[in-house]
Amino acid sequence: MSVDVLTRVVAEQIKPSIGSRVLNSKAELLSGELGPKLRALLEERGVLVFPKINFTDEEQIAFTKTMGTFAPEHRGGEEIHKITLDVKENPQSAEYLKGSLYWHIDGTMNSVPILASLLSCKVPATWGGNTGFCNTYAAYEALSDEDKAKYEAMRVAHSVWATVFYYEPEPSLAKLKGMQAIGENELPLVWKHASGRKSLVIGCTAHRVVNVPADESARVIVGLREWATQEEFSYSHEWSVGDLVIWDNTGTMHRAEAYDPKCNRMMHRTKLQGEEPFE
Ligand code: OGA
Ligand code: MN
Repeated sequence: MSVDVLTRVVAEQIKPSIGSRVLNSKAELLSGELGPKLRALLEERGVLVFPKINFTDEEQIAFTKTMGTFAPEHRGGEEIHKITLDVKENPQSAEYLKGSLYWHIDGTMNSVPILASLLSCKVPATWGGNTGFCNTYAAYEALSDEDKAKYEAMRVAHSVWATVFYYEPEPSLAKLKGMQAIGENELPLVWKHASGRKSLVIGCTAHRVVNVPADESARVIVGLREWATQEEFSYSHEWSVGDLVIWDNTGTMHRAEAYDPKCNRMMHRTKLQGEEPFE
């Protein structure tokens, strides 16, 4: 390593409650020296943006590994996952990605969700297509004591099938059954992290609050989504080719903002394995 490679993180805040831009060079990021420091910054800021860092797939994989355990998309593989609505590029998941246009946390069907995702922009959308993020730690912390007490013990049923109605209000029964086969997962509304901090577990897979009447349940889920995604706690990233963004999937929600579905927007994703169950 050459002597002028920095071993400290150079970053600036994007907004007080969310987001930092990291300005280190590609060589510094790939040296591995910054991995643990970037992990700590990620937990503090929710989202890290690396403007026009222009990683190749191999570099993105190597950089991902400096921050934790690489989580392959498929058993055994270490490949990049293509995020696109183009069915030629991504036959299995183009349908599922339609759900990513609504606020969500990745992996709410699992007991241990992924720690973080790294998304890099190869082809931006022709219109729209920003990725929105909100800080669910900051949103929880800003609640009144009364609201914190009200939500403390609530549990929420999450399901993928609930999200189908967001983009297809009248699905066939066969399609509904297919999505229901994925199952449901009951999660706490307030995640008590090992660090002692708490965050909200909501998003489009949040289907109903357990043991609460349907109308009140919907008010809790809609009200907290509105609260957490307000301007103060959120950031919308407008992509340039080569940008890389990492989000802490345990303390943020995200969504793709609407874009031309035919425009071949192409993002490459890697993930870090989760280390903490929802509890
Ligand atoms: C994801 C996701 C949003 C986007 O990769 O999990 O939700 O803007 N992506 O593509
Ligand atoms: Mn997602």
